[in-house]
Amino acid sequence: MLGCGLMGSGIAQAAASAGFTTVARDVAQPFLDKGRAGILKSMGRLVEKGKLTAGDREAAAGRLSFTTDTAALRDCDIIIEAVTEDLELKNGLWQELDRLCPVETIFASNTSSLTIAAMAAATSRPDRFVGLHFFNPVPLMPLVEVVRTVTTSQATFDRAFAFARNLGKEAVAATDNPGFIVNLLLVPFLLDAARALERGIASTVDLDRAIQLGCGHPMGPLTLLDYIGLDTVVRIADIMFDAYREPRYSAPPLLQRMVVAGYHGRKNGRGFYDYSVDPPVPSELGLRKA
Ligand code: 3HC
Repeated sequence: MLGCGLMGSGIAQAAASAGFTTVARDVAQPFLDKGRAGILKSMGRLVEKGKLTAGDREAAAGRLSFTTDTAALRDCDIIIEAVTEDLELKNGLWQELDRLCPVETIFASNTSSLTIAAMAAATSRPDRFVGLHFFNPVPLMPLVEVVRTVTTSQATFDRAFAFARNLGKEAVAATDNPGFIVNLLLVPFLLDAARALERGIASTVDLDRAIQLGCGHPMGPLTLLDYIGLDTVVRIADIMFDAYREPRYSAPPLLQRMVVAGYHGRKNGRGFYDYSVDPPVPSELGLRKA
């Protein structure tokens, strides 16, 4: 596992829980410590709910190791990358691993908006490169999009698809267009929710309640934006806007302002809601009152 942030640690948890020996690599120990703490907390919740036995939790934790050394991934059969959505950063890591790993190792990116082709082409194994896109929170969300690009071989796609199923996930096949299936449709919806708030269509709470109660979504879109991370969503939107040049993928000014102001959502305690209080309350965002 390359990257031990929110997604990376979730994927590592899923792999270890499914019985795979799992190595999580990140650039510095504090990121690994945070990732490990998140995994133990999540497993603790699953034990409390009776979805995981204490014995299975111990066994899964025993299959997990954490490192800052990229070379420690050398012997893995499949390497999944979940680092920041920055093509240069990702390709630097892929090229390093391409030199280190045997030819048969499969490379998989959890990118949510970049193309798999742009990473596969940077390696000497474009046929053994695939997308495996997970959803947050990984331990609970059943879906994985398995993404085949121009160069992905059928054998690689089949192995990646089987691997996703062996993780206990439902796999769907997606083509290599930015956003794949889910983000292609979800991101414009989330951006529209921020636009609706910006235009004074409804309050934060009413916007969320309307979609939750009117459409049966588990979370309203503003809560979901906070949950995914506003900086992450803006980054995804920028990449998709660049690819499609369609206004529906452009991050509205409100969202951009919030990110500039350090409102990154639930992960740092403030976004459309203020998480310093329980239950969270809508943030004052400097919008004109009706
Ligand atoms: N690990 C283990 N258990 C967890 C958990 C985690 N990470 N997160 C929540 N839980 C447990 C809670 O402990 C709780 O248990 P309980 O029922 O015993 O109290 C249970 O899950 C339900 O949690 P909550 O009561 O806190 O909240 P919800 O009932 O709303 O469920 C949710 C939480 C599953 C996150 C649900 O709200 C949901 O499905 N939300 C939508 C998530 C979504 O859309 N994800 C996709 C985002 S897009 C994406 O990831 C793509 C990327 O590219 C951007």
